[in-house]
Amino acid sequence: MLLLAAAFIVAFVLLLYMVSPLISPSPLKLAGAHVVVTGGSSGIGKCIAIECFKCGAFITLVARNESKLVQAKKEIEKYAINEKQVVICISVDVSKDYRQVENVIKQAQEKLGPVDMLVNCAGMAIAGTFEEIEIGQFTRLMEVNYLGSVYASRAVISTMKERRMGRVVFVSSQAGQLGLFGYTAYSPSKFALRGLAEALQMEVKPYNVYITVAYPPDTDTPGFAEENKSKPLETKLISESSSLCQPEQVAKVIVKDAIQGNFNSSVGSDGYMLSSLTCGMSPVTTITEGLQQVVTMGLFRTIALFYLGSFDSIVRRCMMQKQNCEQASKTD
Ligand SMILES: NC(=O)c1ccc[n+]([C@@H]2O[C@H](COP(=O)([O-])OP(=O)(O)OC[C@H]3O[C@@H](n4cnc5c(N)ncnc54)[C@H](OP(=O)(O)O)[C@@H]3O)[C@@H](O)[C@H]2O)c1
Repeated sequence: MLLLAAAFIVAFVLLLYMVSPLISPSPLKLAGAHVVVTGGSSGIGKCIAIECFKCGAFITLVARNESKLVQAKKEIEKYAINEKQVVICISVDVSKDYRQVENVIKQAQEKLGPVDMLVNCAGMAIAGTFEEIEIGQFTRLMEVNYLGSVYASRAVISTMKERRMGRVVFVSSQAGQLGLFGYTAYSPSKFALRGLAEALQMEVKPYNVYITVAYPPDTDTPGFAEENKSKPLETKLISESSSLCQPEQVAKVIVKDAIQGNFNSSVGSDGYMLSSLTCGMSPVTTITEGLQQVVTMGLFRTIALFYLGSFDSIVRRCMMQKQNCEQASKTD
């Protein structure tokens, strides 16, 4: 009887594996597609643009600094696979004014046709303790990381719905999956993208438009180097529990997931565990993904509790060190 039940479960799981690709979105063809990458002049965004260009896409790069844009364009053009491919650059601050962003998207569509894939990668990080971070920075991070993504997505979504095709990618962060010491301003701006993505996915799925939320780990980019300048010791020690990724590796994963129409995009085993743990009510793209989440949840929560314990002890140790230093300097 037990054997029969086991055989039934195995057969059921196998059947799910087999039908899973049938209910998944059909992959987006990047050859000839128009891909807009905000934040495409540096770091992860530039590598995403290169990855798409290598597959034959036409690219629009959006960022503020014009010389960085021109430099990135030259770099990306080296990876052309045919003579028709084009990279255009548009300078705009995505966080300031919706009309400006809408105009930029219109300009890009006039030159390269309707947008097939939008990658919202423009963003910044500020780390510090809650009392240290200037109050205006809380607003700035929400403007750049969250509203910048709302504006660009709003400017492309109607056309995607009309054409019954498209991909929108939101580049969040592992700090958009869990709150860590030092990220009281940054984390909420990345968590917000997840809420936006879930709600938007439910609206646009019937129109064959798919949303991807990417949760990159610490990645070796100019933006990361800048963030490190003000990072508290606690945040650095906690971050050391996972290794530093290269932007090329992160970009490959994001582009692959966006093509497939996967809702979650994570890098490495830590990323996989975090995404499974924090899946909540987020959509699944394949039945196998859902099954994996159900099966692994208990184990991953147990591992997570050990991580949380070690993070708390890092914070406590740093606090005691600071108190000892203060006492020593008082007695001197
Ligand atoms: N690196 C990491 O460890 C890491 C980890 C997780 C998530 N992320 C996220 O990944 C994304 C890219 O990060 P990165 O490390 O590659 O950063 P980066 O090297 O600093 O690149 C950021 C890009 O965004 C553009 N940008 C910034 N603010 C903008 C604005 N207001 N309007 C238009 N463009 C703007 C920048 O160009 P201009 O300055 O010229 O505008 C640049 O092209 C960010 O959203 C970041 O939060 C990064």
